[in-house]
Amino acid sequence: MRYIAPALLVAAPLVAATASSKRGLCVVSTETSQDDAIWTNDTDLSGTWYYNYAAVPTPDYKNKLNFVPMLWGAPEDPANDMSFYNTVSNLIQEGQNITYVLGFNEPDGCSSGGSCVSAATAAQVWKKQFEPLKRDFGVKLGAPAVTGAPTGFNWLANWFSECAAIEASSGGSSNTTSCEVDFIPAHWYGNFGGLASHLGQINGTYQNISAIWVTEFACADCTLEDSQTFANQSFEYLDRIPYMQKYSYFGAFPLLTEKGKLTDIGALYLNKASTGAIPHGSASTIAKFAGWGGLVGAAVFWSLL
Ligand SMILES: *[C@@H]1O[C@H](CO)[C@@H](O)[C@H](O)[C@H]1NC(C)=O
Ligand SMILES: *[C@@H]1O[C@H](CO)[C@@H](O)[C@H](O)[C@H]1NC(C)=O
Ligand SMILES: *[C@@H]1O[C@H](CO)[C@@H](O)[C@H](O)[C@H]1NC(C)=O
Ligand SMILES: *[C@@H]1O[C@H](CO)[C@@H](O)[C@H](O)[C@H]1NC(C)=O
Ligand SMILES: *[C@@H]1O[C@H](CO)[C@@H](O)[C@H](O)[C@H]1NC(C)=O
Ligand SMILES: *[C@@H]1O[C@H](CO)[C@@H](O)[C@H](O)[C@H]1NC(C)=O
Repeated sequence: MRYIAPALLVAAPLVAATASSKRGLCVVSTETSQDDAIWTNDTDLSGTWYYNYAAVPTPDYKNKLNFVPMLWGAPEDPANDMSFYNTVSNLIQEGQNITYVLGFNEPDGCSSGGSCVSAATAAQVWKKQFEPLKRDFGVKLGAPAVTGAPTGFNWLANWFSECAAIEASSGGSSNTTSCEVDFIPAHWYGNFGGLASHLGQINGTYQNISAIWVTEFACADCTLEDSQTFANQSFEYLDRIPYMQKYSYFGAFPLLTEKGKLTDIGALYLNKASTGAIPHGSASTIAKFAGWGGLVGAAVFWSLL
């Protein structure tokens, strides 16, 4: 993921949209418990989902929003490590409602927050830890979330081939011919037309997998006004297309002001009346976002996707 602080313009208020059961939160890290409370106090959000790039829930959200565990990158010993499987199965046995898990974060990216995992290693981990979660607990599996770049498409195709090779070498002992997945998560940083065409390409390429999630997206290099227009168009579109199952917008900037108040985009996302609050840029805001690259879990801000 990348984030460029938008230029600061005053834009027209957004009009509240209808509530969406697809919308969730992409929790980068908590800035303060007070920021968390904006999301967790809100009963309209109970039942929605979030992920935090980790296998365990964020304490403030536990038992409030539905948690989706993620294995961010490859374990050191991919052939034997079972820690992701064990962590998720413990959550389920404790009574946590775990319906979905997510695979690797931007495995095709080797800078700026990507986990830089080879398709072969990721396929090995998939067979070892992910498919057993589905088999043993009925958990639905989200494929690795590649970047929106063409390298992402190549990585994903290679990953399916690597799983097929593992199946072939093991005599095809399982029921799947490649990597078993229930949905494909996508990332997109760009304009609305680009988002729609990217999703159309995934839907067209993987016709055997009927569900897509967008787990990171934002208008890249945009003014505030363009970000609002993008939010208006993309939230409506993602709510409408049938194959879109869940989505989460990336970046605190458009959603919360520095003082932890909802912006208009944040209000639209939560289906609230426009606040008229606009994010005020400052060196510290920009520094926070600049500090994001590569430091998943360490950056100090919240984000709602
Ligand atoms: C959240 O709820 C707590 C407890 O009711 C309250 O003290 C706090 O002010 C609320 N925070 C926000 C941001 O709504
Ligand atoms: C469990 O989570 C799923 C997916 O988020 C949700 O649809 C379902 O309603 C939840 N069940 C309970 C009992 O909360
Ligand atoms: C293959 O499918 C059968 C029948 O649906 C099921 O009982 C079995 O557990 C599956 N095997 C694996 C490895 O998923
Ligand atoms: C789904 O389609 C893709 C692309 O054609 C293929 O690589 C993959 O093996 C298929 N998956 C299953 C489970 O059939
Ligand atoms: C997604 O792909 C399916 C299968 O090819 C197709 O029928 C459907 O029209 C596509 N959906 C969109 C919104 O393009
Ligand atoms: C967002 O959409 C609403 C309803 O279509 C429209 O009234 C409003 O002007 C739009 N705002 C922006 C910034 O595009």
